[in-house]
Amino acid sequence: MDRFLIHGGRPLFGSVSVASAKNAVLPILAACLLTEEECAIRNVPALEDVRTMLKLLAALGVSVQHSGRTVRLCAGGRIARSAPYDIVRRMRAGYYVLGPLLGRFGEARVSLPGGCAIGARPVDLHLKGLEALGARVEVEHGYVQARARRLAGAAMRLEGTRGPSVGATANVMMAAVLARGETVIDGAAREPEVVDLAAFLGRLGADIRGAGTPTVRVRGVRRLGGADFRPIPDRVEAGTFAVAAALTGGRVQVRNCRPEHLAAVVDKLGEAGAEVTCERRSLTVTGRGRPRPLCLGTAPYPGFPTDIQAQFTALLAVADGTSVVTENIFEARFLHTMELARMGADIQVSGSVAVIRGVPRLSGAQVMASDLRASAALVLAGLVAEGETEVRRIYHLDRGYERLESKLGALGARIERRGDD
Ligand code: EPZ
Repeated sequence: MDRFLIHGGRPLFGSVSVASAKNAVLPILAACLLTEEECAIRNVPALEDVRTMLKLLAALGVSVQHSGRTVRLCAGGRIARSAPYDIVRRMRAGYYVLGPLLGRFGEARVSLPGGCAIGARPVDLHLKGLEALGARVEVEHGYVQARARRLAGAAMRLEGTRGPSVGATANVMMAAVLARGETVIDGAAREPEVVDLAAFLGRLGADIRGAGTPTVRVRGVRRLGGADFRPIPDRVEAGTFAVAAALTGGRVQVRNCRPEHLAAVVDKLGEAGAEVTCERRSLTVTGRGRPRPLCLGTAPYPGFPTDIQAQFTALLAVADGTSVVTENIFEARFLHTMELARMGADIQVSGSVAVIRGVPRLSGAQVMASDLRASAALVLAGLVAEGETEVRRIYHLDRGYERLESKLGALGARIERRGDD
């Protein structure tokens, strides 16, 4: 298992370009199941989750061809309707094949994804939406089995107790594009990745309105064509580099990003004392001394993203005062705080609230990554810690960050990847 060795203490300087958004690319790849024509997806990042999704699609019978960073997919041949546990267990987003398989073939069998390190990950809203479209859904032997002769448009409300669901909105949208009549999703997730999926489906010929607002309307069409598409840049990767600049007291230009997708993050970085300049496709962050403490709570888009909470926790660990961070989206997304404590951070977690008393410095230590964004937080902490930090189990990181060590290295960080000794 690979690990990172980081020698802290160097401010980051320079410019870095972010990849396409993992969380946009994954549903878009699954959506290629909706058409028998070829789809070309550009600038696809080399991430473990993307490889898993492509493996799943290939296992279903989709032809998958790479040329550089473009992936061409064609679901024109015989397509299986069942997504096996062995692949779906590796990545929750495997669940995204449910909507397209059901929408196009009237039948889908997908292994239940199970929980993960950030807490329970229920799928009730996905199933509620598909049932509203007329599918008969059964959960048996760890699989969801859904059937319908042809789905029929319907009105539904998809919000759960913690707000809208990105995954359920995407899955239902994909199922509804080939349904008979109009579907109205109220309480839809407004995340940019949902909007990008709607844009892709639109290119295939789907009729979707209101993506990015709480009400999405889908008018079903008979069939979809192919498309050539470049997904949006990764706002979480961009946010991670922005925090790295602020935390190390450096100055980093984050290129190929969409600052408008990061408004809540830019606000909080400014409140923490960093200087942030936004341009159309880039933002530049300059760290100015010790961060100021913050009070922040995660929320559905356009609120502060849960996927950047862990990175901010690392920033606030060295703030000049006490911060309060509330995680409102996932129930157990504070595992990184225990590892940060091993590096000298003073963080008390009670339920969904973390109280962080900033310390002047962190000290390098051996720490263990528990999930994707928690790993990023540990790497960020390692960049400012005194001495050497070893982050183990970075396979979590490889699921969502492309060549993180070489991108950070190019900005001046001392970080190297080591395999098993
Ligand atoms: C997506 O997960 C992202 N994953 C997550 O990215 C991200 O943290 C999350 O959205 C929130 O922004 C992908 O896009 C592949 P949700 P998703 O359904 O769709 C509850 C990362 O690090 N809920 O919006 O699974 C759920 O428990 C990650 O890249 C139900 O109650 O998230 C949570 O509390 C991890 N019932 C809330 O809704 C359901 O049926 C939001 O979850 C579905 C969800």
